[in-house]
Amino acid sequence: MKDTLILGIESSCDETAAAVVKNGREILSDVIASQADFHEQFGGVVPELASRMHVDAVYPTISKALSDAGCTLDDIDAVAVTYGPGLVGALLVGLSAAKGLCEVKGLPLVGVHHLKGHIAANYLCFPELEPPFLCLCVSGGNTMIVRVDSYTEMEILGRTRDDAAGEAIDKIARVIGLGYPGGPKMDKAGQGGDTSGYKFSRTHMTDTLDFSFSGIKTSALNLINGIRQKGEEPDIKDFTASYQQNIAEILLDNTLKAAEQTGLDRICLAGGVSANSFLRKAFDGAAEENGLKLYYPNLRLCTDNGAMIASAGYFEYISGTRHGLDLNASPSLKL
Ligand code: KG4
Repeated sequence: MKDTLILGIESSCDETAAAVVKNGREILSDVIASQADFHEQFGGVVPELASRMHVDAVYPTISKALSDAGCTLDDIDAVAVTYGPGLVGALLVGLSAAKGLCEVKGLPLVGVHHLKGHIAANYLCFPELEPPFLCLCVSGGNTMIVRVDSYTEMEILGRTRDDAAGEAIDKIARVIGLGYPGGPKMDKAGQGGDTSGYKFSRTHMTDTLDFSFSGIKTSALNLINGIRQKGEEPDIKDFTASYQQNIAEILLDNTLKAAEQTGLDRICLAGGVSANSFLRKAFDGAAEENGLKLYYPNLRLCTDNGAMIASAGYFEYISGTRHGLDLNASPSLKL
């Protein structure tokens, strides 16, 4: 059977990314132009500047993805592109570039939901992985437990009612002076720290797989303020280790509940926060204890990239999904 090559394009936040993936599983190229260093001076992503930087980077990134894969647009079967959720101006840049290529080369356009891309990162790392399975999607803007029924169909079993786990981490990282991007910096800061050195109160919700992170975030802020009022500073190593451990436990508790309720014994992690070492360790231990099979993407594929969009796009493409050139960016696109 002929191989299917998908060009994937991602520009939903501060990474301009493009990749070529073969048959949904094999990465032929994976190019990422990150703006993270630039946005660091502002303490977060500035949407208007992000859009402009995507404009500069989008075609060079796509060209490099094609040349690294040793192919041209004539070898590509379809263009997959993130059309939501994300920053509207940022999404429009990748989407417009994809549409331009499709119009000129007569290629099919496949719009991809960003989170479906994060889930598909697991298909790239584990060739044997097939649905159904549970996926904990944890990124800067989303936290949800998804039952993945097939490559294209999935249902949300639980979601955050307030902050995403990534937001709760990024906010506290900023307050304690670690800067942006908070997630990786807090992960590093907490290495070797005492995970029970500081106590936080958490929101307890029964009879639901939903999450809440505003309680623990407020508890951390109050703790920091209380310490600072005494003219002291929290011990960064222990504080960040304890905070991340607590967040990991909140995520783990509901995921284990979901596994029990659905009877699914395979669990994937996806999204930027799935790179977190405290989270991975907590899930590793629980998976072994409960006889569950755990999957998480390698670090490069946890955060935004084009390969995951190409993989998710491949499965949409072979199931018949096609979008018209009137496809618009959808900043709050539902799964
Ligand atoms: O999935 P992603 O790249 O972008 C979104 O779609 O949101 O996730 C970004 C989030 C940010 O909140 C970032 O701080 C977090 O992922 N992140 C981490 C780590 N690496 C990235 N959070 C905790 N520990 C990490 N090692």
